[in-house]
Amino acid sequence: MQPNIDIYILGIESSCDDTSSAVIKNNKILSNKIANQGIHKEYGGVVPELASRAHQQNIIPVVDSALKEAGINSNQLSAIAFTRGPGLLGSLLVGVSFAKAFAMGLNIPVIEVDHLDAHILAHFIDNGSPAPSFPFLCLTVSGGHSQIVKVNSPGNMEIIGKTIDDAAGEAFDKAAKIMGLPYPGGPVIDKLAKEGDKNRFSFAKPKIQGLDYSFSGLKTSILYFIRDELKKDPEFIEKNKKDLSASIQHTIIDILLSKLKRASRETGIKEIAIAGGVSANSVLREALQLEAEKQRWNFYLPEFQFSTDNAAMIAISGYFKYLDNQFAEIDIAPYARR
Ligand code: KG4
Ligand code: ZN
Repeated sequence: MQPNIDIYILGIESSCDDTSSAVIKNNKILSNKIANQGIHKEYGGVVPELASRAHQQNIIPVVDSALKEAGINSNQLSAIAFTRGPGLLGSLLVGVSFAKAFAMGLNIPVIEVDHLDAHILAHFIDNGSPAPSFPFLCLTVSGGHSQIVKVNSPGNMEIIGKTIDDAAGEAFDKAAKIMGLPYPGGPVIDKLAKEGDKNRFSFAKPKIQGLDYSFSGLKTSILYFIRDELKKDPEFIEKNKKDLSASIQHTIIDILLSKLKRASRETGIKEIAIAGGVSANSVLREALQLEAEKQRWNFYLPEFQFSTDNAAMIAISGYFKYLDNQFAEIDIAPYARR
């Protein structure tokens, strides 16, 4: 349903280490601002306490710049949508509290959004390319989650497969850490792998029933393999990091693809989408496109800027809820897990 008047939603995302704010006019993005927190790099992972402190510093400037770039005044906003969870509680609290206070000041409603649903709904941001039709399958792969979701409508999603331990992004990040590479490891491995041989090393793949994933065995297999090789040659990582990156990336992609193919076979659904930070991986994107041709899938890739954490996806999710009159109470609290 297209409304008669324009709806402006301010989206706020602060679930992990990115402070982001976006403004949407109906289903079109007017601005999408992200402040990354470089501070975590030296610790090899996100430090929750430092993340919430940085959100506190970033939130007002980021919102201000999103409103300015959108060219609108805060009193034109119809509602404020925020990430309620899952994520780091201290980080979420900053965005949730800010959203509630700002909305109260403007006398407009607040809309709660689930971060993982939002990654999926990013596909409905109107950027000129077609959106998936319902029902579709979405492979949601981020730093904290790996799921295959059957999306029946914006408000009706069924998780039909999920990781029983580590997420795909975590597998990238932990493998990178073992190799002494900086955090987050996914983009670093992606870059190094471009010049590496993906068939040089092979690692254990999980044998998990059904549509579920597991990545902790892979991590252990990488850890033991590298530990043994380092005993023979202390420079093993340095000499082989491109081939190691390519081989690890190839294994993770293989694991992700095999269950997605199975999910499509079992459900008969050929509308296939991908979402979440790992969907920024260049080889995964290529592999999925090739598979889509082979399997005759209609395949949907999110625009790069909407793959990793961003507030545009929160704003579009808020837009769907706004149309459905789904507003939150002002005493709403964030959740770390769903
Ligand atoms: O969705 P996201 O930005 O944040 C969470 O909700 O977790 O995902 C972050 C994850 C990290 O694990 C990061 O290493 C991974 O996405 N990632 C990538 C790439 N870019 C980000 N993994 C592989 N290749 C990439 N190019
Ligand atoms: Zn995310």
